[in-house]
Amino acid sequence: DMAEKGGYDHFMLKEIHEQPDAVKKTLMELQDIKEMVENFPKFNRICFVACGTSYHASLVGKYLFEGLVGIPTDVLLASEFEFSAGALDEKTLAIFISQSGETADTLRALRMANETAQTLAIVNVLGSTATREADHVIYTRAGPEIGVAATKTYVSQLTCICLLALSMAGEEKLLEDIQHVPDHMKLALEAEDQIREIAKKYKDAEDFFFIGRGYSYPTAMEGALKLKEITYIHGEGYAAGELKHGPLALIDDDVPVVAVVPPGDSHDKTLGNLQEVKARGASVIALGSSDDEVLKSEAHEMIEFSGELNEVLSPIVYVVPLQLLSYHMSVERGIDPDKPKNLAKCVTVE
Ligand code: G6P
Repeated sequence: DMAEKGGYDHFMLKEIHEQPDAVKKTLMELQDIKEMVENFPKFNRICFVACGTSYHASLVGKYLFEGLVGIPTDVLLASEFEFSAGALDEKTLAIFISQSGETADTLRALRMANETAQTLAIVNVLGSTATREADHVIYTRAGPEIGVAATKTYVSQLTCICLLALSMAGEEKLLEDIQHVPDHMKLALEAEDQIREIAKKYKDAEDFFFIGRGYSYPTAMEGALKLKEITYIHGEGYAAGELKHGPLALIDDDVPVVAVVPPGDSHDKTLGNLQEVKARGASVIALGSSDDEVLKSEAHEMIEFSGELNEVLSPIVYVVPLQLLSYHMSVERGIDPDKPKNLAKCVTVE
């Protein structure tokens, strides 16, 4: 068992550490993706469909396709897809994101979409049902993922979606930058000792908020999902600008707030939201650039990222400490993060 885990205490921790390599392997799909894109007809709409962590990867896709490619993009939960299926047509590219390629809700939606739209499946498991039924397939090259909570497959999904959107947008500079993402992830993993200490400090909290804007909003949602899945603590991922429309009423000194604040367009506004929750007593755990002195001075805990990284690519890197935070909180709480209660790796019922 220990051998299978490569010396790590859990598969999840092993898989978190495998992420730079998973992304590196997935980046090798670029040529195939470019060829696929060359043969695409002109789409006037993109529609992502997924569940769970794969849904959060899809949310990043919306920002990429609308922000860089300029194609209107929707993101639908697979279990809600049937209520929107009527608006699909042959000019729609429906993109199904699934680690397993076997999730029942996702497969059902894929079958419905196949009747009208062009379908593309982004899947980790070779030969799985989704790969056999979709019109086009891109594989995430994360290797087998054993831990129930998705980690390395998520960053590989994000990588595929980036490669696809950047290829469609002809963003050659960002396609060069993305080659350096595995190095940024390695640096992010170096914060593990600090994160373990933060986990010890906050392990008894009953509620957590995770906030971010734009590209960092899905990261906040994924951070909250990881927390729920493996620590059984209530976590909410919120668009930072939406806090004032309700959740601010829940913030007090018992609620830690994790703020995802990379350098970029949304930085200053999220910083403002961070100050708002701080004024209401919250402990703030901030994720941001090691050069960001203002953020450092505002946060109670600061998880730092060194090196320059375009905000567009930041979701692939900034999720890493959030996975580690949930992992270590899970272990501190005496939970087996590989086998969270009530959850399955692959859900084959609707
Ligand atoms: C289950 C897993 C999640 C996963 C979701 C979607 O709920 O526990 O980790 O994100 O299914 O799975 P898929 O294989 O379609 O990505």
